[in-house]
Amino acid sequence: MMMMMRVLDSIPVETRCAASLAIGKNVAAFRRAVLSWYDHHRRDLPWRQTRDPYRIWLSEIMLQQTRVAAVLEHYRVFLERFPNVEVLAAASEDAVLAAWSGLGYYRRARMLHRCARQVARQHGGCFPQNSEALLALPGIGRYTAAAIASIAFAESVAVVDGNVERVLQRLIGNKSIGINLTTAQTWQHAQTFLSNSRPGDFNQGMMELGATVCVPRAPHCPMCPVRKWCVTRGEVPRTEPPSRQKKKQIWCVLESRDGNGSGNGKVRLVQRPRQASLMPGMWELPQSSEPPRPLPASARWRTFRHSITITDYTVHVLRNTPLPDSPAAAKGTWIAIDRIPRIPITGLTRKILKASGII
Ligand code: ADE
Repeated sequence: MMMMMRVLDSIPVETRCAASLAIGKNVAAFRRAVLSWYDHHRRDLPWRQTRDPYRIWLSEIMLQQTRVAAVLEHYRVFLERFPNVEVLAAASEDAVLAAWSGLGYYRRARMLHRCARQVARQHGGCFPQNSEALLALPGIGRYTAAAIASIAFAESVAVVDGNVERVLQRLIGNKSIGINLTTAQTWQHAQTFLSNSRPGDFNQGMMELGATVCVPRAPHCPMCPVRKWCVTRGEVPRTEPPSRQKKKQIWCVLESRDGNGSGNGKVRLVQRPRQASLMPGMWELPQSSEPPRPLPASARWRTFRHSITITDYTVHVLRNTPLPDSPAAAKGTWIAIDRIPRIPITGLTRKILKASGII
């Protein structure tokens, strides 16, 4: 490693980038290595069995900031409920948010719905077939446009997400040896390496490599199909695990009435303000950042862990105990349990209602 640093130090950065690209001259071999590895090692995921732009678009939006494991079941259920862009466009926003419940980052669902309406209204229900036109749609940025265009329409346009960026930084040399690609350079390199014959598979191969082999900590370099071109060759600087910045405790109350076997059970929920910056308009259990005092031991039901963006919550669920100083509105409304699949509830509320057997 020290030796590599000294050799590299004597070469200007621009030349190093090109030189480190032993790939430069062997780009065809590099592409073959990525594609062959992807053909043999890719995970079998539902959105990889289709060229339907609707299904690919949906998977790409769901996969933003969300793990594959968390997306799988939501993807299946969402497609059952909204099998094509016209059905999605015709649905109410609340129905879309209800189906999104549990995936978080609800702005994605609102933009998804707006995009579906635009595709239905302005494009006759057919997604535009190139990245430039896709980019004009709501909620579709450079990455998503390129992913849809390359996977569904075989356009030769590269994607860079967090995984691809890490693969490229390591291949070409990262901060530890004095090279750090700018965002623009990362996109340029991705475009240079792209396979023009199989752009969708190549893009997914690079993402898959980052997701399963060239992982942030302790990458599996011996398994890597492109290690011979890699400047860092496994000499990976220690990266500290990202610190989750905040920890909070909340108390919420689960109050339900059963319907005495009539199927008319109810649960008390509160609707978040329509202007709230986080999860506007969604329904949740009445909650407070303070416990009731005194807190009778009999009121405690269960404790849950829940994360929203960068905050880790410890959630104390109480039964049949009023929260402190709750204004009348925060006490909530009795909602019929059989309506719950059709109203947007927060992921935490879904988790608690499921654990209690109410849904
Ligand atoms: N991340 C987001 N979309 C992906 C895809 N199609 N393949 C691999 N990783 C992804």
